[in-house]
Amino acid sequence: MYPLTRNRRLRNNDAIRHLVRETILTPSDFLVPLFIVEGKGIREEITSMPDYYRMSLDNLEKEVKELWNLGLCAVLLFVKVPDNLKDNKGAEALNADGLMQRAIKTVKNVCPDMLVMTDVALDPYSSYGHDGIVADGQILNDETAQVLAEMSVSHAQAGANFVAPSDMMDGRILHIREALEDEGFIDTGIMSYSAKYASAFYGPFREALDSAPVAIKNVPMDKKTYQMDAANRFEAIRETQMDIDEGADIVMVKPGLCYLDIVREIKNEVDVPVAVYQVSGEYAMLKSAAEKGWLNHDSVMMEQLIAIKRAGANIIASYFAKDAVKLMG
Ligand code: PBG
Repeated sequence: MYPLTRNRRLRNNDAIRHLVRETILTPSDFLVPLFIVEGKGIREEITSMPDYYRMSLDNLEKEVKELWNLGLCAVLLFVKVPDNLKDNKGAEALNADGLMQRAIKTVKNVCPDMLVMTDVALDPYSSYGHDGIVADGQILNDETAQVLAEMSVSHAQAGANFVAPSDMMDGRILHIREALEDEGFIDTGIMSYSAKYASAFYGPFREALDSAPVAIKNVPMDKKTYQMDAANRFEAIRETQMDIDEGADIVMVKPGLCYLDIVREIKNEVDVPVAVYQVSGEYAMLKSAAEKGWLNHDSVMMEQLIAIKRAGANIIASYFAKDAVKLMG
């Protein structure tokens, strides 16, 4: 007796494994998140994100050139806003000469073909650390969507190719699309964080930007009234479909690894590109286990990234982008 099929023939050596490989990572799969701070000559490591840095605009120039030379052609910008510029309505977000607007111009200046995407949400600008305007213990939906639309126009004016609303207010994609069209930014795209879960994996990111929700009477310390419940699956499809109907060009699932079932379902359901955000907590978990010698950093990193792509991601936002591309050779 012998097995009718010997699947191991297709695993015998490197050459045959390469030949039959179903999923291949390339540099153009990646979107690189970057954290920007005010100042000069700053490149400070984020405590809970080893080997990842907040940088000032002069170092952003260098970083962007390096990314481009590695074949990485898309960045996602986040800014750390000084406390004295934070308020409840995110007024600083609309400052034409604000840090985000200058960061966009900086990238476009040194590398005009680099695709620039910008985070659109109030949290880095909010004195409460929320993605929207707070009133009477509530996160106001429609008022926030209005500010997000103005913020998006401001980013487009500075030269952003795509805006990436990460706030989870209802109806904001429609508001943003209309505002961009009204102002003539017909080619500015929207990558919507469509299925964004209220996740504890965002902890290190909130440290990076000093943007965690603060303890204030009657205001929730979490984002569960706007970000999704980890238990829900159909809701993710509904959220995503709604964003597409409102004009999203790219949709996103976030976080990555714990939500790859959602990625596959959405990929099967929709016909626009699907992005996945492998978030800060996922990065921190691997870094800390690797530091202890408990996991092999590079092997686990590549396994995770290939899993994200295999699940259906067309675009992977990842803090590992540079490391992964260097390994690809
Ligand atoms: C802001 C925003 C967050 C992330 C991306 N945009 C944090 C949050 O919603 O609290 C998280 C990214 C990460 O953890 O890497 N709206």
